[in-house]
Amino acid sequence: MRLPDSLNVLLLGAGGREHAFAWKIAQSPRVAKLYIAPGNAGTAREGMNVDLQPNNFGSVKQFVLSNNINLVVVGPEEPLVKGIYDFFHEDSDIHHVPVIGPSTAGARLEGSKDFAKAFMMRHGIPTAAYKSFSKETLEDGYRFLEELKAPYVLKANGLAAGKGVVILEDLDAAKKELSEMLNGKFGNASSTVVIEEYLQGIECSVFVATDGKDYKILPVAKDYKRIGEGDTGLNTGGMGAVSPVPFADERFMEEVRRSIVEPTIQGLAAEKIVYNGFLFIGLMNVGGKPYVIEYNVRMGDPETEVVLPRIESDIIGLFEGIAFGSLASYNLKISSQTATTVVCVSGGYPGEYRKGLEIKGLDTLTGDSIVFHAGTTAKAGKTYTSGGRVLAVTSLGDGIQEALNKSYATIAGIEYEDKYFRHDIGQDLL
Ligand code: AMP
Ligand code: GLY
Repeated sequence: MRLPDSLNVLLLGAGGREHAFAWKIAQSPRVAKLYIAPGNAGTAREGMNVDLQPNNFGSVKQFVLSNNINLVVVGPEEPLVKGIYDFFHEDSDIHHVPVIGPSTAGARLEGSKDFAKAFMMRHGIPTAAYKSFSKETLEDGYRFLEELKAPYVLKANGLAAGKGVVILEDLDAAKKELSEMLNGKFGNASSTVVIEEYLQGIECSVFVATDGKDYKILPVAKDYKRIGEGDTGLNTGGMGAVSPVPFADERFMEEVRRSIVEPTIQGLAAEKIVYNGFLFIGLMNVGGKPYVIEYNVRMGDPETEVVLPRIESDIIGLFEGIAFGSLASYNLKISSQTATTVVCVSGGYPGEYRKGLEIKGLDTLTGDSIVFHAGTTAKAGKTYTSGGRVLAVTSLGDGIQEALNKSYATIAGIEYEDKYFRHDIGQDLL
């Protein structure tokens, strides 16, 4: 089975990741129309934004039927965990339209940390030792914490908007946190809590496209999560990213493939879990050996903004392989150049920040960068901020420093009140 030679695509989501997808999809000669729901001011330059909420499956279905959509690409995790793949699959009006993303069962790899950990144990995939606890087993949780050494890692089982992981140095603070989490700190998401061994090392993000039996490993990336320079301060949705990652060399990536990617894909198949989408494996490099920190069932943000610009082959062919089980015959071409992205946020983020600030300079940029929009909106020909993460400025170069120089030069030409960005993206890799 194939997608039509000329097709209409619906992309769900609104962030920098979705602008990067829209940018790449729009380059395909096979795409007739690209719609982004709801999109942002940047995606509006690549296709047509539509006022549609990705979690409202009924209206997504109506839009797909009235606009002859041939392919649905899902950016964020929420619609996947809520079951958009199964919704399409089980409805005879739309089951012929492929959805790029895992089934509801597959999305549990991100939607339930307890499920993900148990899956890794079943398939011998290296990850931190752990135990899960509920309100009824709080006392056992305290005892487990006493057996561990600091720092203590506590994770809400369900989706908690990226805030569900708490790492504490002090045993009493960890016990208090466990009790608070089990008593509803993150609502239902923390009615089960995973406590796990702390892993010391350096992190990277591995992305895999799979059709459920074959897979392609996409460019590896590293993101920068903390708001402050030198990796200090609060966690954010991501302040920058770099691809490739020097320490994730050929030997390391071969170990990732052998000990993590292969058993994960085979494990999904053995458990009859349908998975036609992207898998994002957050890894810790512990003394040269990879351990899984977490699975996500989508691409990363801002990693996508450095991963897709390094893919030279047509992305519709990749989606086709994912959707129809023909991924093995897709010829993935990856650029040897380095990509960096630097995220510009609004002053105050990830705490309180203002929205609606006019962004100037976007139309007169001369540099050699791709400006992906994350939180922007367009009104009467002007562009305004609409979120904490505003732009992700990506550049390609021969090496990290050359790419970074281009991104920082481009950022210098963009103005809005209280613009903030980190000056040290990628410096730890040089
Ligand atoms: P997650 O939401 O699972 O990505 O966790 C957030 C962050 O917490 C990760 O990116 C890691 O930096 C850190 N983290 C999670 N689990 C561990 C662990 N077992 N050991 C050390 N750091 C961890
Ligand atoms: N950059 C991390 C994430 O997308 O979850």
